[in-house]
Amino acid sequence: MSAILETETLPGISSPGVATSSVSPTSLITLKINGVEKRLPLAPWTTLLDALREHMDLTGTKKGCDHGQCGACTVLVNGKRINSCLTLAVMQEGNEITTIEGLAKGEELHPLQEAFVEHDAFQCGYCTPGQICSAIGLMNEGKAQSRAEIRELMSGNLCRCGAYSNIVDAIDQVMHERGEHA
Ligand code: FES
Ligand code: FES
Repeated sequence: MSAILETETLPGISSPGVATSSVSPTSLITLKINGVEKRLPLAPWTTLLDALREHMDLTGTKKGCDHGQCGACTVLVNGKRINSCLTLAVMQEGNEITTIEGLAKGEELHPLQEAFVEHDAFQCGYCTPGQICSAIGLMNEGKAQSRAEIRELMSGNLCRCGAYSNIVDAIDQVMHERGEHA
């Protein structure tokens, strides 16, 4: 490849190791987060996680691995749990996105948040928002019928300080209260 081809790039297209224009192309993207619609100028490659944290100050959702391996970034999209680091914001236009900030009703915590407090299911707390969102997604899926299944279906959410059994206790309690498993 000639020197010219190695250093020249099309506007907005980056090439590894080559300095490009500092202006990123953006489009206006409308996202419905926690019941509120927001229009944001975002580069098309912005992940939902970065849109939440960097463009909307919704820092409750955490960035752990940024590679879909830890679950810290879990949010709900139309009631289903997803890793927000693995989806682009633009792909979520028109969907109902719920983050940890959207679970409480005013001063009243979501029952799972209360159960996490009651069972001391958080330690450093970094993974807790993702654990809680994931647990709500798990309950919406309706597949877990036992503590073992709760454990298995929560296995995509890592907690490095090992609050796992307390987390299962908290989820188990809420599911029992709702009559969702034996
Ligand atoms: S930050 Fe998304 S799975 Fe780890
Ligand atoms: S609460 Fe600390 S890593 Fe999960």
